Amino acid sequence: MKQQGTAGLHRPILNGKVNFPLCLAPMVGLTHVALRELMREYLPHEAFTIWPTEMLNSRRIPSENLEKTPETLRAPHENGLVPQILGNEEVPIAESVKRLIEWGAEAIDINMGCPVQKALKHNYGVALMGDPSYAAEVVRMTVKNSSIPVSVKIRAVGSTKEFDELLSFVMGLRNSGASWVCLHPRTAAQKRRGSADWEQIKQLHRAVDFPIIGNGDIQTAEDALLMLQETGCDMAMAGRGLAARPWMMWQLGETLGFAPPLGKEGQKAPRTPEDEGAEYGKCLLKLIALSRKYFGEDLAMRKVRFYVRTTSVWLVFGNALYGVCAKAKTTEEMEAGVRKFFEGPVEMSPRTELRQ
Ligand SMILES: Cc1cc2nc3c(=O)[nH]c(=O)nc-3n(C[C@H](O)[C@H](O)[C@H](O)COP(=O)(O)O)c2cc1C
Repeated sequence: MKQQGTAGLHRPILNGKVNFPLCLAPMVGLTHVALRELMREYLPHEAFTIWPTEMLNSRRIPSENLEKTPETLRAPHENGLVPQILGNEEVPIAESVKRLIEWGAEAIDINMGCPVQKALKHNYGVALMGDPSYAAEVVRMTVKNSSIPVSVKIRAVGSTKEFDELLSFVMGLRNSGASWVCLHPRTAAQKRRGSADWEQIKQLHRAVDFPIIGNGDIQTAEDALLMLQETGCDMAMAGRGLAARPWMMWQLGETLGFAPPLGKEGQKAPRTPEDEGAEYGKCLLKLIALSRKYFGEDLAMRKVRFYVRTTSVWLVFGNALYGVCAKAKTTEEMEAGVRKFFEGPVEMSPRTELRQ
């Protein structure tokens, strides 16, 4: 069944291929093949959405083996892939785009929101937002070298008072050929803390005629629906909250009238704190197995620990679960510890204060 009602996708993304208005955010160390594979099990049947990678340095992509590098590992069946690049020079961007298209990208996203020092030093990430004409040039050089759509992920420039500045920045990107823009309305100074100013998503969507993806502080399926309805944006992108509850895809699909995910016909998405806690436990065990399969023992341990550190904040006694994973010496030990932790009821809260 197709999406019902008025939530999202007023303007087509990927030439109308996307029919589901929620996607995962690019996150270093988290948005990888194992998490995507786990999350796809919760995507409603016949729903199509976009799937990012973590940010990839355009100076490195040309010389990397994309089939083997952990950040670009992909499963053969993966569709809708939209890898994200960091960059500001035409030659590496052109080579990166070419290789990513061969790898299977359906669109290329440019990171203009990363506030970490390393990105600022090289004048990419959010540094580009301080130089609108150069940012537009980066989009132009990417589009010129790409046969697939190019999008840009940006941050807020400041309060809603500075909206005109944001709008003219975004129009510069659009006039250079960006197909859509994702706005994370926290300022660079806020990093990822505090609340995201959804009002800016609403204003931006109203002011332009191309697709806008809204991002920031979506912790539940209800939040995703609220963002879509309150801001009118075309898609909601969720990072930490969706990583923690991959079944948010199923929950939102249920609300929007999509069929359940394959293999879950006749079942209802978990909704209570106890059911969600139990689902988190099942997901974590799957994630450990998938991470081992894709990354091997050592890297799997590091990736899973980081996952648990970021996502266990929604669990009652989540820090104890992190302790279990930090102490384990092998993924098998980790699995045994996780199984034990979830033997009794574990509650998952709908919302928490996001600090990292
Ligand atoms: C651990 C971590 C790594 C991140 N890495 C990236 C990245 O590679 N590229 C990017 O555009 N944003 C990155 N972000 C920002 C997220 O994409 C997103 O904008 C932010 O987390 C806000 O969404 P949320 O409140 O739903 O988590 C990262 C966020 C986290 C928590």
